[in-house]
Amino acid sequence: MFFKNKNISIKNEIVLKELDMNNIPKHIAIIMDGNGRWAKKRNLPRSFGHKAGVETIREIVKACSNIGVKYLTLYAFSTENWKRPADEVSTLMNLLVEYLRGELEELNRNNVIINYIGDISALPDLCQKELVNSNIKTKNNTGLTLNLALNYGGRDEIIKAVKNIYIDMLKNNIDIEKIDEKLISNYLYTKNIPDPDLLIRTSGEIRLSNFLLWQIAYTELYFTDIYWPDFKPYHLYKAIIDYQKRDRRFGTVK
Ligand code: FPP
Repeated sequence: MFFKNKNISIKNEIVLKELDMNNIPKHIAIIMDGNGRWAKKRNLPRSFGHKAGVETIREIVKACSNIGVKYLTLYAFSTENWKRPADEVSTLMNLLVEYLRGELEELNRNNVIINYIGDISALPDLCQKELVNSNIKTKNNTGLTLNLALNYGGRDEIIKAVKNIYIDMLKNNIDIEKIDEKLISNYLYTKNIPDPDLLIRTSGEIRLSNFLLWQIAYTELYFTDIYWPDFKPYHLYKAIIDYQKRDRRFGTVK
């Protein structure tokens, strides 16, 4: 075990040296996929995959915080995930509560702010309570913002924004000519957060699954076959190195 960990840290050190610390993505968004398949490969119940996935969250949050990422948005529960078996939904909700309770001190030590996006009013009361409490207890931190997407759907977010814009138009708070990209962004859950620079999806699936549809217009996409529980800081650094080789033109020429 000792040698295995030593090898991991040597691998991390080598890859860390390749990172351009002056070009760290400010905002990384991750679709954490493959927990179920990770468990199935080991003949374990799906819940074991989700538990292992939480361990990866711990490591990736720490790694992002250490290299100076400002925002990390994790797709933890989508508006579509309610269609999963009730016991799996309840496992995920319990893991969320356990994570927030168990990790609060460590996140505070690492100067992390806990934030959430999505309609959390549909989550069990205990989840809502822990989320609000974790946000209050970390909101004065100044490091990484860990943004948990819960009961989040990109289309749902846009529908809510359109409805609220309409309400404000009726109240004469908005003139139709004032509707532009900036205004719409200000009606989204992510209103105070810059768009992601890099979006990572694990597990080999190459789709966006209703995640941050508006915000990823110019985001660099990175897909890896690694299942989420196997995704380590080493893989994160590799994804960032790949990102750093991209030529981001935002539709212009250089
Ligand atoms: C995708 O794997 C994973 C999820 C839908 C849930 C992610 C949630 C956690 C890791 C834990 C709870 C969250 C926090 C913030 C503590 P999948 O089940 O779709 O995998 P599969 O595609 O292989 O079946």
